[in-house]
Amino acid sequence: MHVHKYERAWLIFGLAMLAVFLCLLAVAAVSNDIVPPSGMQQIDPSTVARTPPFDKPGLRRLPDGSYEAYYVAQVFSFNPAVLTVPVGAKVTFYVTSTDVVHGFFVPHTDINMMVIPGWVNTETHVFRTPGEYLLICHEYCGIGHQNMFGKIEVTKV
Ligand code: CUA
Repeated sequence: MHVHKYERAWLIFGLAMLAVFLCLLAVAAVSNDIVPPSGMQQIDPSTVARTPPFDKPGLRRLPDGSYEAYYVAQVFSFNPAVLTVPVGAKVTFYVTSTDVVHGFFVPHTDINMMVIPGWVNTETHVFRTPGEYLLICHEYCGIGHQNMFGKIEVTKV
């Protein structure tokens, strides 16, 4: 089979670049100790139900008036399914999974996380507009994925 010399040169260049970028990716992953986004806390997925504060998921009010919301994601639901917060509340979400990778996405806010078993992911949001917010799993997690959702009710005070 005849391969034109320019075609061969570009093929070799393409493959070489692929190899170079794969090496750079591997070096960066190892040297920077790459972990899931904002995954600062680790947790044993098999003991989540017994590990405080995830043994009692839900909302906590802090002395400074802000809130913490602890969520457990599992096929195919969020616990708590419904969260009620007063308008203006600053809520820091702590989310973990007991089984597979899930998503934690609240449209019309900047809450958009991956929920990875073994890790606690966090994000803080201030709910300035009252109403009902949908919480959806946006990582395919199995046959009931499309039924995995929750609700955040932001109430007027
Ligand atoms: Cu959980 Cu998709």
